[in-house]
Amino acid sequence: MKILITGGAGFIASHVADAYIELGHEVVIVDNLSSGNKANLNPQAKFIEADITDREKIQEIVRTERPEIINHHAAHIQVGYSVKNPQFDAENNIMGLLNIMEAAKEIPVKKVIMAATGGAMYGNKPTPFNEEMKAEPLSPYGISKRAGELYLNYYHELYQIPFISLRYSNVYGPRQNAHGESGVIAIFSEMIADGKAPAINGDGTHTRDYVYVSDVARANVLALESDFVGELNIGTQTEISTNEVFRKVVAEMGADVKEVHTAERPGEQVTSSLDYSKAKKILGWEPVVNFDEGVRRVVAWYKKTN
Ligand SMILES: NC(=O)c1ccc[n+]([C@@H]2O[C@H](COP(=O)([O-])OP(=O)(O)OC[C@H]3O[C@@H](n4cnc5c(N)ncnc54)[C@H](O)[C@@H]3O)[C@@H](O)[C@H]2O)c1
Repeated sequence: MKILITGGAGFIASHVADAYIELGHEVVIVDNLSSGNKANLNPQAKFIEADITDREKIQEIVRTERPEIINHHAAHIQVGYSVKNPQFDAENNIMGLLNIMEAAKEIPVKKVIMAATGGAMYGNKPTPFNEEMKAEPLSPYGISKRAGELYLNYYHELYQIPFISLRYSNVYGPRQNAHGESGVIAIFSEMIADGKAPAINGDGTHTRDYVYVSDVARANVLALESDFVGELNIGTQTEISTNEVFRKVVAEMGADVKEVHTAERPGEQVTSSLDYSKAKKILGWEPVVNFDEGVRRVVAWYKKTN
């Protein structure tokens, strides 16, 4: 199949592109390289440098390429920055999607797969979060991702374009950008590999659900063949504290680094974990790389690249 992947020079979607190409699909990648990197691009993919907020250009690309599937990962991903500049977040995550979909409905594409968030979707509720819980995002980023899902539902209702929204927990793995505000495993790994001592925000007891990127790529593969329309959590239903992440990375690095704590970031969610039983039932998906193995692979990658 011909698949257009937005954000394919970035962390997660570059792994998705690799998995699709491995299966023999024809992949076209659109990315503005704002946080992505040309080194992540699969050489067998066609690459078009473009910004999804550039309505004319992105629509021309969709109309010219005529993909069967659109896999949409390009987004503004910084929750903290979305609070400072919600307009920027909405321009990328809402208007960017609409620019693509207004051209996609003309072809029409057979399916849209979108990267959404599980961590920033449900608000402060008891964990694990499941898809039946009301979406109550507490940040402009979470709101724009939810808005994207509602728009995809609209395109499905009006134009019969099926969609699957994959609500990821905290994804980690090789190629993750260590210079953003999220991606604590990448941040700790790169700093320690560089001989620096990272600081843990707050007392480090906040927990997150860490899902390995190859498991996420596999969810994107399974989503190609599924008739399901709607939202699916992609996580591990396991909560790991920031202190545990720090100690694991330090141990894997074989480094002698002291644990230092700084002030808590205001508004941080305390816990997060995703019930993935719906994805298991519908896609036959479940995570296979456990946290110890995942951190081992990430640390090996950072040691090699630093
Ligand atoms: N990393 C996570 O833990 C996580 C969790 C939940 C959801 N997601 C979602 O997964 C997707 C990919 O995230 P990632 O972690 O790989 O981040 P990333 O920053 O590595 O990837 C995003 C890619 O999109 C590109 N991009 C950004 N804005 C663009 C624009 N306006 N036009 C064209 N390209 C643009 C960037 O250059 C980058 O290559 C995002 O939609 C993100 O919201 C990520």
